[in-house]
Amino acid sequence: MDMKGKLARALAGITGADAAELCEWMEAPKRRELGDYAFPCFRLARTLKQAPAAIAEELARAVALPDGISRAEAAGGYLNFFVDRQSFARDVLSRALDEREQYGRSTEGAGKTVCVEYSSINIAKPMHIGHLSTTVLGNSLKRIYDRLGYDTVSINHLGDWGTQFGKMIAAYKHWGAPELLETGGVRDLVALYIRFHAEAEAEPSLDDEARAWFRKIEQHDEEAWALFQRFKEITMKEADRVYALLGVEFDSYAGENFYEDKMQPVIDEIRAKGLATVDGGALIVDLSEYDMPPCIILKSDGGTIYATRDLAAACYRKATYDFHKLLYVVAYQQNLHFRQIFKVLELMGHDWVKDCVHVNFGMVSIEDGSLSTRKGNVVYLDDVLHAAIEKTRAVIEEKSPDLEDKDEVARQVGVGAVVWGTLYNSRIKDIVFSYAKALNFDGETGPYAQYTYARCCSVLRKASGYDLCAADMSALEDEFSGALIRAIHEFPEVVREAAEKYEPYLVARAVIAICAAFNRFYYEHRIMEDDPAVRNARLALTDAAKCAVGAGLSLLGIETPERM
Ligand code: ARG
Repeated sequence: MDMKGKLARALAGITGADAAELCEWMEAPKRRELGDYAFPCFRLARTLKQAPAAIAEELARAVALPDGISRAEAAGGYLNFFVDRQSFARDVLSRALDEREQYGRSTEGAGKTVCVEYSSINIAKPMHIGHLSTTVLGNSLKRIYDRLGYDTVSINHLGDWGTQFGKMIAAYKHWGAPELLETGGVRDLVALYIRFHAEAEAEPSLDDEARAWFRKIEQHDEEAWALFQRFKEITMKEADRVYALLGVEFDSYAGENFYEDKMQPVIDEIRAKGLATVDGGALIVDLSEYDMPPCIILKSDGGTIYATRDLAAACYRKATYDFHKLLYVVAYQQNLHFRQIFKVLELMGHDWVKDCVHVNFGMVSIEDGSLSTRKGNVVYLDDVLHAAIEKTRAVIEEKSPDLEDKDEVARQVGVGAVVWGTLYNSRIKDIVFSYAKALNFDGETGPYAQYTYARCCSVLRKASGYDLCAADMSALEDEFSGALIRAIHEFPEVVREAAEKYEPYLVARAVIAICAAFNRFYYEHRIMEDDPAVRNARLALTDAAKCAVGAGLSLLGIETPERM
């Protein structure tokens, strides 16, 4: 299907130039009526010592047209190629109909492992709107790499270590109700933590207690360890509900605690390689030469920190998964942290650090309303999702009161709207989320894409079957069918580009392009035409559009109800 390559090879045969280089030069013509591929002859003019226009003329006469190209025409120094509409349509439809919900798949990643670290929530802390982007971006990237044939490992690097857990236990011991451990939720844990900080201001001995409890956790003291584990279970139970709503799963929950016994070798290595210096009692790697503050390895009390665990985690992941790439889907606030970590790994001589990528992103906030962040209140992620589901439920009640599975569809569409809103723009942009915009069925939204998918399903359901072999491809040569076929055709390349740039929004844009083209096609044509050859062609195209939209939504982690 790589037409540029075929054309380049055909031209290399006559010009004696390198096919790979000629392929690079291929362009898209400025206007559609000029053809589908344009080969500029300007650079050949030097080697061939002829005017570009003359070269184009001669090539047009001499070139052997590859299958799928109907003609070549010279125009002002360019050689323009026209694809054969019918064979192009057949190729595009066949691939989409063959790969179906896996449309865009490839084997380019075979044998390579990509680790995607995302979500990485903190135990006993709220899972808030700030975790939305990392969770859905990471999930989408994992799905994109899966589609391209990579082995993926999804990692939730839990924030489950640090002195704050000593504070949690001290607070629980003082003010915790016993039922907390049975029926309490994260909000209760957070309340305890806030109370600890308020009271410790007046009563500094509480901090000593907290330190003592943390030491007990470190020593796996029975009571302290059990409480710590219980806090973790309470947090994960709530998180798992959110993950289930979002359709997000992890292969590994190895978080900060997991690296507790894996840091010493890394610290030893840093020392042995002469990278460590002692500064005010702390062990640091000086990075002033690289315009960065030092990376602290051990605090002056000998304790490890967040960065120490990240160094151990990177080494562990390399040893365990031998990754081709390790992606950290973490907000841009941690840009410096990752630059420091990557630099230390580089100084340690780990050349694989070049395969580590900080996939950063901007902030999400909610446009005013009941869940606003005014007064510094945390916006819990499950509240955001449930609000979206409820609002969707109301829309369904109004627009399609007879729909079956209203609850299920409201969940799919409400959650899909939030996910889409997070993924529709380049990840580095800050997002101000608006329910009204996200749930607008006519905008460039998740619900619009889902609605288009359901519309395709409905057309196909009513037709109850079609036969691609009996389809007349000449029925798809019109402008609207052609635009839809091209949009479907572009999708697989977009998936690759999204992986290369770590940008799922490219997939979302491709989905919208297909939806818009399908809806135009739908309004301009009668699909259930009497002529069976035409009907078969239009139904096949509808099915291909359905597959492409569905394949795209699944890459974004968005579900596809068949009726809406
Ligand atoms: N738990 C951290 C936070 O919420 C994010 C962890 C990011 N990943 C990492 N390997 N440091 O801020």
